[in-house]
Amino acid sequence: MSATPDRSITAPEAARTADGLPGHVAFIMDGNGRWAQARGLPRTEGHRHGLEALRRTVRHAVRLGLGYMTIYSFSSENWRRPETEVSFLMGLLRRFLQRDLSEIHNANVRIRVIGQREDLDSSILKLLTDAEALTRENSGMTLVVAFNYGARDEITRAIRRLAQEVASGELSPEAISEDALNASLDTAGIPDPDLIIRTSGERRLSNFLMWQAAYSELYFSPVLWPDFDREAFDAALDDYCGRDRRFGGLTAKAL
Ligand code: FPP
Repeated sequence: MSATPDRSITAPEAARTADGLPGHVAFIMDGNGRWAQARGLPRTEGHRHGLEALRRTVRHAVRLGLGYMTIYSFSSENWRRPETEVSFLMGLLRRFLQRDLSEIHNANVRIRVIGQREDLDSSILKLLTDAEALTRENSGMTLVVAFNYGARDEITRAIRRLAQEVASGELSPEAISEDALNASLDTAGIPDPDLIIRTSGERRLSNFLMWQAAYSELYFSPVLWPDFDREAFDAALDDYCGRDRRFGGLTAKAL
């Protein structure tokens, strides 16, 4: 058997910054409902304070010079929530895109949206595509907004696209590779997350970036999302900086 594998598994492109910080941090912003319940407030109050935490977190990420930040803002499964909560979350997205867009644009942040677009209300879709168009040329951090997003749905749509190319003769089955699948995902061109932070103490991926998370470091913060602040963010980054990432290989000192 040859010592050199014929198909090398390359480490996912890690978008690291020089000082060892992760280049791409993704957030599962969990715990809004529990935060509100603990205060005897309606769940929607938790989401409203969650938007404040999101603003703080984006500002801190920009200050730190992160390359990419992804937020799980509405999952393809969140439609199962009561209608009032779903429409409140839609309203929050509108508010975020309308009130915060100029600050985001002035901070040289580029917005990318991932998730299923077909079923979205046309006015929401327009806000999302307008935000992407306005910020397209920005060269600072990329803020990836996962909206109506589910990893299984994303992977299914990507496979369907490749299957259509095979059916039309544009692509041979042999040409279906990890790179081809990567390029068909909503996240095409975005490096895999180095670090995924989930708040509220839950320890699951919940259908978030399941392909892209293959080598991500996972960090579970006990803090409920509306309380997530600079200190909690820095604690996650400190923890990440102490980790040994091997991508299935060995560290230099073990070779
Ligand atoms: C999970 O908490 C959170 C969400 C489903 C929505 C996340 C939304 C925000 C952080 C506000 C900003 C929103 C947008 C759209 C920009 P949960 O409700 O599941 O909390 P629980 O597990 O305590 O019930």
